[in-house]
Amino acid sequence: MAERRDVVIIGAGAAGMMCAIEAGRRGRRALVLDHARAPGEKIRISGGGRCNFTNIHAGPKNFLSVNPHFCKSALARYTPRDFLDLVERHRIPWHEKTLGQLFCDNSAKDIIAMLLAEMKAVGAELRLSTSIGAVEHDGASFRIVTENGTVEAASLVMATGGKSIPKMGATGFAYRIAEQFGLPVVETRAGLVPLMLDPATLAAHEGLPGVAVDVIARHGKTEFREAALFTHRGLSGPAILQISSYWREGEEIALALCPDVDFADVIAAARRQNGRQAVQTVLAEHMPKKLAQLFVTELGIDGPLAEQPGKRIDALLQRLKGWRLRPPTSEGYRTAEVTLGGVDTAALDSRSMAAKTVPGLYFIGEAVDVTGWLGGYNFQWAWASGHAAGQEA
Ligand code: FDA
Repeated sequence: MAERRDVVIIGAGAAGMMCAIEAGRRGRRALVLDHARAPGEKIRISGGGRCNFTNIHAGPKNFLSVNPHFCKSALARYTPRDFLDLVERHRIPWHEKTLGQLFCDNSAKDIIAMLLAEMKAVGAELRLSTSIGAVEHDGASFRIVTENGTVEAASLVMATGGKSIPKMGATGFAYRIAEQFGLPVVETRAGLVPLMLDPATLAAHEGLPGVAVDVIARHGKTEFREAALFTHRGLSGPAILQISSYWREGEEIALALCPDVDFADVIAAARRQNGRQAVQTVLAEHMPKKLAQLFVTELGIDGPLAEQPGKRIDALLQRLKGWRLRPPTSEGYRTAEVTLGGVDTAALDSRSMAAKTVPGLYFIGEAVDVTGWLGGYNFQWAWASGHAAGQEA
């Protein structure tokens, strides 16, 4: 005999636990299944262990999706303030780090403990270390076949996240279930991910790994102003992670270095004051020395500032304003913070996350083709979409 519940949620991550809380609050008997040994593993490691749990400025403009309007309803009905109220009710100390990003003062584990306490309070069950075999549907009920028996439920919520960090148990299972039920899936790719550089560029960057610099990273009309970090494989840091979600393999990005500095003014003033100094000495007053060295070497600038032809200085200024780089690839799902693409929003109802053609089937969180910027937006989507589905499932 199969067990019976009102709602089965597959995936005990941010979205799945929030959905269970909301469904439980409505008196629904909710069961959360997960193949992992612990719930909320990505919450635990997020934000360097302090979980950037939301962003107070989160709005539809901070999300990528084939349909940029899809996320509006859920985000409007469960806001960063709503999540913060929950955090405060549990007396979890928090702080704003920068750009509206809210972090725990102590540990991301506080957020997991809060979600588990909320689940318990509404009677939502959690079953871990449970592999899911098959999902069947007879038109009225779903049958979820697990290694420990079968559970039947009128509603099934898929909250298994994306493909990022397979070492942590990411599987892309939600996409398979979507396909099984005939729902389209927008092609997935790694997002918020470090970019690799080709061996020749890396060789030229010798000495740069570890260097960080303030930049505006651009791809087409999209730009982010934050830090970039040079690594042994290529480029990382918040500005690069942000722009990586807009970039595609082999495309160019441009970096404007030290956007607060007007290098034309700096060089003109240095020329007036002491034309005998080397160009890299002038640059190094405003940027890491190793980077200044790279630019003068690459542009063949040698000798005192006063002896440099105007054309060469112009080339340098151009380079500083828009350093073009063409990463051949990214580090991929191995290190990506999120997965772009996912279950096509055209197949889902934006109020409830329900599949339009399969009554009782829902998709929430990262599994859906809604992906946030870096900075607490992805958790806000997980909370908001989980909440939306929990109000109906
Ligand atoms: P999530 O991936 O959290 O949960 C999915 C659950 O489903 C997991 O528990 C998994 O075990 C389970 N599962 C998967 N396949 C299964 C299967 N076949 N059978 C059973 N169970 C299965 N975002 C943010 O806003 N602020 C931040 O600070 C960070 N920091 C961060 C750091 C790092 C290193 C990463 C990788 C990611 C972040 N993120 C983030 C992104 C954020 O973690 C992510 O968007 C959310 O966790 C997505 O929540 P979901 O609940 O949708 O999936």
